[in-house]
Amino acid sequence: MARSEQPYKGLRCNDCRSFFESEEPVERCPKCGGLLDTVLDEDSLTEYSRKRLDEGGRSMWRFSMFLPVRRGSVPVTAGEGGTPLRPAKSFSKNVWVKDETRNPTGTFKDRGASVAVTRLSQLKVQQLVLASEGNAGCSFALYSQMARIGCHVYLPRQSNPAKIQLTKKLGAHLTQVPGTIADAGRYAARSAKAAGRYNASTFVTPFRHDGKGTMALEISQQFEWKSPDYVVYPVGGGVGLVGMWKMFKILGKIGWTRSNPRIIAVQPSGCAPVVEAYNRGREDVEEWKSPRTIANGLKIPKPLAGKWILKSIRESKGIALKVRDTEIRRAMRQVATKEGMLMEPSSAAGFAAIPRLYETGSVDRGDTLVVIATGSGLKTLEQL
Ligand SMILES: Cc1ncc(COP(=O)(O)O)c(C=O)c1O
Repeated sequence: MARSEQPYKGLRCNDCRSFFESEEPVERCPKCGGLLDTVLDEDSLTEYSRKRLDEGGRSMWRFSMFLPVRRGSVPVTAGEGGTPLRPAKSFSKNVWVKDETRNPTGTFKDRGASVAVTRLSQLKVQQLVLASEGNAGCSFALYSQMARIGCHVYLPRQSNPAKIQLTKKLGAHLTQVPGTIADAGRYAARSAKAAGRYNASTFVTPFRHDGKGTMALEISQQFEWKSPDYVVYPVGGGVGLVGMWKMFKILGKIGWTRSNPRIIAVQPSGCAPVVEAYNRGREDVEEWKSPRTIANGLKIPKPLAGKWILKSIRESKGIALKVRDTEIRRAMRQVATKEGMLMEPSSAAGFAAIPRLYETGSVDRGDTLVVIATGSGLKTLEQL
């Protein structure tokens, strides 16, 4: 098969639509400050065969043609992705779990970090900084160390102790700041500017969401290129939701699948800016005042990519719903005792939505549902 062109072409601004072919480590749009998306040439992608994917190994890098890297480049990888899809019969015979707890640091954040660090090392970045609630900090600490890039992580003080420990043990420079992730974001931005470090925070960098988008590619392959009816996703910054929806659409356009799943976005009732905006028909999210929830990864008062998240859910004809912390706790117990999986609260939020979806008739018990189990409970034992 003659693969004439590299599918990854460059970056396009979601707002002013400017295109950048740049080999510079760009963050937000240099012209208007909007968020950048990576551009893949779909004609080049059609030259690849879905039948030959397994020749590329088991990790998510078998889908490297969908990723914003140069062809033939060596990935910074610890074997992330390639995670199992397993049944969760205690919920219903049509519920499946994409088990992201199997990733190197126990969460799906490893996918985004592996892609971003690969691209940033190609772009010769030597120091990066990010704000995180904890899991992304662990992932970037791991991959930065592998690539010998300096990593500076800003975490809210109330992060889970194991996330703090692991970030430090993996060699990152850690600063704990008072307040929420929004405050950590301000510290990270200041540090990036003052010390000339690359800011790899959620959607400040355009190189993370395609990594999480590989979950959509794997789910489609695991369903033998037939889409499930729904994908349930616990939304924080929306990186995985935006990335997966983008990849589901691309698969349809290049003819690998015939239909797309509908996305079900779940947030805790103590911090649900996306659910609120979606159900009120808004174009962007409004800041959630005084967020309170046990799901630390979902405690994002105003996701930067609000418009992009809402557009993705809308395009998929999706559903958005809130779950209470008591329901999250119940789901954590059910998943642990009946399914044998340890979930952190942010991850259990997706499972907490299932009974409600059935009770309200939003989803039929005959429909196939894939829940993304985003993170392991081993980092949040104090909350189990
Ligand atoms: C375990 C877990 N689940 C879900 C999320 C939300 O992810 P996203 O930012 O892709 O919406 C996070 C983010 O920190 C997380 O740590």
